[in-house]
Parts: sequence; structure tokens; C-alpha cells
Amino acid sequence: MKKKYQYIRTGILGLLLSTQAIQAQNTVTFKPDAPTQTINRNIYGHFAEHLGNCIYGGFYVGDTSHIPNTNGVRKDVIAALRKMKIPNLRWPGGCFADTYHWKDGIGPKDKRPTIVNTWWGNVTENNSFGTHDFLNMCEELGAEPYLSGNVGSGTVQELADWVQYTNFGGKSPMSDLRRQNGRDEPWKVRFWGIGNEAWGCGGNMRPEYYVDLYRKFTTFMQGHIFRIASGANSSDYNWTEVLMKNIPGSLLDGIALHHYSVIDWNRKGDAVDFTEEQYFTTMKQALFMDTLVRKHAAIMDKYDPAKKTALVVDEWGGWYNVEGGTNPGFLFQQNTMRDAMVAGSTLNIFNNHSDRVRMANLAQAINVLQSVILTKGDIMVLTPTYYVMEMYSVHQDATLIPIDIHSNDYTFGNQKLSAVSASASKDKNGVTHISLVNIDAHKAQEITLDTRSESYKSISGSVLTSAKLQDYNSFTKPDNIKPVDFKGATLKKNTISVKLPPFSVVVLELK
Ligand code: AHR
Repeated sequence: MKKKYQYIRTGILGLLLSTQAIQAQNTVTFKPDAPTQTINRNIYGHFAEHLGNCIYGGFYVGDTSHIPNTNGVRKDVIAALRKMKIPNLRWPGGCFADTYHWKDGIGPKDKRPTIVNTWWGNVTENNSFGTHDFLNMCEELGAEPYLSGNVGSGTVQELADWVQYTNFGGKSPMSDLRRQNGRDEPWKVRFWGIGNEAWGCGGNMRPEYYVDLYRKFTTFMQGHIFRIASGANSSDYNWTEVLMKNIPGSLLDGIALHHYSVIDWNRKGDAVDFTEEQYFTTMKQALFMDTLVRKHAAIMDKYDPAKKTALVVDEWGGWYNVEGGTNPGFLFQQNTMRDAMVAGSTLNIFNNHSDRVRMANLAQAINVLQSVILTKGDIMVLTPTYYVMEMYSVHQDATLIPIDIHSNDYTFGNQKLSAVSASASKDKNGVTHISLVNIDAHKAQEITLDTRSESYKSISGSVLTSAKLQDYNSFTKPDNIKPVDFKGATLKKNTISVKLPPFSVVVLELK
């Protein structure tokens, strides 16, 4: 009898131990037979609005500045963004786009009219940075321009003229005007947004009304262009449904989605001085992107099973309170390891859904919201988010390797999130890259990676982490956080063991 109880006790203990063992094991497994696709480089796009010091003081200092520049654009910024492989840049907004009249920004700078930037701090916009400045800058950056057209307060004619001005090679009123302003060859702009946040700052429209406007505007936009409809605010699935149902596929190349990782719109919290609870909520919001993409994509699949229309997440990122003493309308915030966690996790989501998500734009490139660059006078700082973008650039235009992932939980109180996220791809040279993120604020995570039929001879990698989640790169300590060589992975043919430090991003290279 005693022996029987002993057996039962040992059995229960064994079961408990094995459950614990299973819980402690993160696994990532390649799925060699799953359908795959290219990870569009445009997933790694950025956004530059006439907002605070993004354009003025960020990108553009003017050609009389003592800061080294090319036609007024900072040379250090151009070099950094080229190094990060910026694939596209969205401009001039945002909310600003639906107040912007592009003809104000062409011709001699001293003759350009001023307007008031009513969305962002009521500052006077002198239009010294306009169409030529932006499109020539994109050429310097090696990035494709993405122009956001004014639907809210502009006309069909105005937007049709902008397309002709930038894209028409023959003789026409608009191409003649372009030549008169010093540019002979058209820029051939492919990406066009038809308004921005039409449900909000773009005109407070109902989707039914916007659909008709969209159909009308795009009818008059000529040439080989990629037309992107103003999309849903986060989980407004009805917006996507109404657009997909009522816009003919022949007029629709992309449909946008905006989602910010914000704790609470009324209590966004400090960008640096945050608690673990606030960190957890930010990450919950960031990981919600996976649900959003799945649900919006499922609606799109109903009307477009061939997935011709792209889901374009053209605004995403963390949004916190502005830094103390800065203009509340300028949205200037610091960038910590929390932002690196948001960036790494979100980009893994986009990679894994790259069948539908074929373009995205982090908000915003310089000095606004989750920036990759901060500037102050001569100084330029690269943020932790910059380094994540740079590390992940290996995925651009590579072939996605579908994976299965089993992750431990990162728990806070009685809430939990998956601690580990991952995505993998093979580039055109046959090199495999795996990006891994551990969002757990305290625990390292051990992962077993099974690459199935793929076996490798060498492994290397880099890691981005720091002593504290709240750490950042400041104007006085710009190199506080930088990627370093990663030594925490071992390889045995098709099995890789990795130990990810708490709150870290790792990119592995396998040959
Ligand atoms: O990125 C800042 C603002 O957020 C954009 O102008 C607007 O589109 C969104 O609401």
C-alpha cells in the first residue's frame, strides 16, 4: 500500500517537473513546407511630417547652415539613414498633409507663401522645404518617396496636378512648371496616399463618404502609381470592411492602418521614467499589432483572396508624454530600450505577415515620437530603435522562413505576454538571419532553434541590450546603447541553442 502511494507521489512529482521543464523551454522551429514569400523591403519604411523638429532642424537645416549639408539636408543624417537602409519615406504628413498645398512649396524660396501649422503647435510654416527638397533628398537617401495627398482640404485637380508635376516626362503645364523650377527629369513617384486619417484629422469622415472621395480622387491620378487608401484607426475593422467592399481593386493598391503603442491617450506616461507596469502595457499594445494585422487581413482576404492589395501600416510606434520643457505640439520624446522592444517585436510581426503587410512606416524619423535619430544643434544621436532597424535590415527583400514558436510567458501581476518573438529569412546569397526578441524585464530566455532540413556550418550575431530598460542614448552619452557581438548562441548542425538576456534584441546570421 505504502509503495503504491510512493509510486503515485513520484508520478505526480515527475509530471510537475516535466510541466515545468516544458514551460521553461522556448522553441523556434522552421517550417520548410509552409508557403513563403519575399519580405518587402518597404516594411522598413519611415515617416517625416512637418511636425516639430522632424523636417526643420531634423532633416533640413538650410544651405547656409554651418552644419555640413547637401542642399540644406544634414549630411550626417543622410549617411546614417543610408547605412540603416531606409527603403522609403512618407511625407509631408500625417495630419499636416490634409492642410498642405504643394504649390506653396515650389519656386524661389523667398517668394513662397507662409501658412500656419494648425495641427502642430500653430507655428508658421515658411514652406522652405517643399516638393523638390523632399524628392531630391529621397534620391540622396536611396529611399523611395511616399507622398501623402491632401484630400481633406485640397481638390482633385490639385492632387492630379501634383502627380503630373512629379511624374510626367512629356510636355504639359505641370511638367513645364517643374522644368522652370530646375528639374528636367520627372522623379517618378510610385507611392501615393489619398488623404490621411480620413476618420479623424483628415476630415472626420464616415468610411462610406471617404470611399466615394477616394474613387473620385484616384480616377484623376494618372500613370503607374501605387494608390494607398487612408486606413483604419487600430481596431476599426468596419473601416477596412467598407473600403474593401466598395473600392474596386483596380483603384486600390494599398490600404493603410495606424496603430500606436500608447498606454492611455490621457495618461501616456514618461518616455524615460516609466514603471514596469507601464512597460508591460506598452508591450501589450505593441504585440496587439499581431491581432490587428490578422483581423484586418482576414477582412481583406474576403474581398481579395489573391492578396493584391497591400496592408500598409504607415504609422506605428510608441507614443509617450513629450520631454519636460519642450513644446507639447512638437511630440519630442526620448527613446529607451523599451522602444527597442517595441521595434523588434513589431518588425517580427510584420515579417511573419509579409504576405499581406508589404509596407510600413515608423512614426517618425527624426525628433518626433519613436525616432531613429535625435538632433540638437550639431549633435546627432542614433537611438536604440535605429539600431534595431539597422540590425533587421538583413531581412529586406529576403525570403521569409515560416516558423513555429513556443514561448514562455512574461508575467506582470496576473497578466501575461509571450516573452519571445522571432522571425527568419534567407537572403539572395543564401545566408539565413533570425531575429529574436526577449521582452521579459527580468528573466533571460533559453531557446532551442530547430532549423529542420537546413543545417549550417557557422553562426554569428549581434545583440542590443543594456543594464536598465530605461537606458537611452543622450546628447551627452550618444553611444550608451549600441549593438555588440553576441556570444550566447551555439550551433550543432540544425539545432541552435540561444540564451537571450532580459529585454534584448538579437539577430543571428547562419551560413
Ligand atoms: O504621427 C503623428 C500624428 O499621428 C500624425 O500626424 C497623424 O496621422 C496621427 O494621428
